[in-house]
Amino acid sequence: MNKRTNPIGLFDSGVGGTSIWREIHNILPNENTIYLADSKNAPYGQKSKEEIIELSIKNTEFLLHQNCKMIVVACNTATTNAIKELRTKFDIPFIGIEPAIKPAANSTKTQTIGILATQGTLNSDLFHKAVLDYKDIKIIEQVGHGLVKLIEEGSLESADMKELLQDYLTPMIKANIDYLVLGCSHYPYLIPQIKEILPESVKIIDSGQAVARQTKNVLVTQDILNNSLHKGNTLFYTNSTPKVLSSILENKYDVEERDF
Ligand code: SIN
Repeated sequence: MNKRTNPIGLFDSGVGGTSIWREIHNILPNENTIYLADSKNAPYGQKSKEEIIELSIKNTEFLLHQNCKMIVVACNTATTNAIKELRTKFDIPFIGIEPAIKPAANSTKTQTIGILATQGTLNSDLFHKAVLDYKDIKIIEQVGHGLVKLIEEGSLESADMKELLQDYLTPMIKANIDYLVLGCSHYPYLIPQIKEILPESVKIIDSGQAVARQTKNVLVTQDILNNSLHKGNTLFYTNSTPKVLSSILENKYDVEERDF
């Protein structure tokens, strides 16, 4: 039974989905939330569709045991590869996160946009369908090989990270993109490093705020919005060492290590 006070569950392959959790917490501070970081199995981006579905089901089952009333798949790779199967298997609302191609394609002046995402996202049917709508726009696709691994290791500001970003973004700059779409929930944590490389005129778009608005809309239409006047609780779980998740949360929240 879905109750208003039951938590919203979020899962990601690791720490990156906290960028989505932040946006949700920002507009829905009174909701209880549970965040699951499947860091033991990160990154998902290079795994097969079958593996991604299996991991997404495992994460969902853990969150359902905690009585979550809704699940936010705070991972682009899991959304694009597994959300259809999750919606078929479980009778609960799911919110997914897809690369924000639409706002970039509708606003570009150079008719050229870049997208940085995992291989799993760029290879997915959902992504291929999304880009079909924008045949007149040049979309430069780049797999962010190695970026999630470095973020999961806590190496956001390392020389390796700078070198990878330089390699991935330089061809986009040469192609004259004016929008860069971040197609992985880990990547918003790289915005300061990305800004150092991109010209100021290039705008960076991620999906966090749109996902948060969509989450609120679904809670309202399903009549499960928490009307409490008190701030909600958040539980953070990881199946790896809590250090990186704690640090990405600026050590403001407790993180519990659990085997799931
Ligand atoms: C990954 O685990 O490879 C990235 C997760 C994402 O696509 O958001």
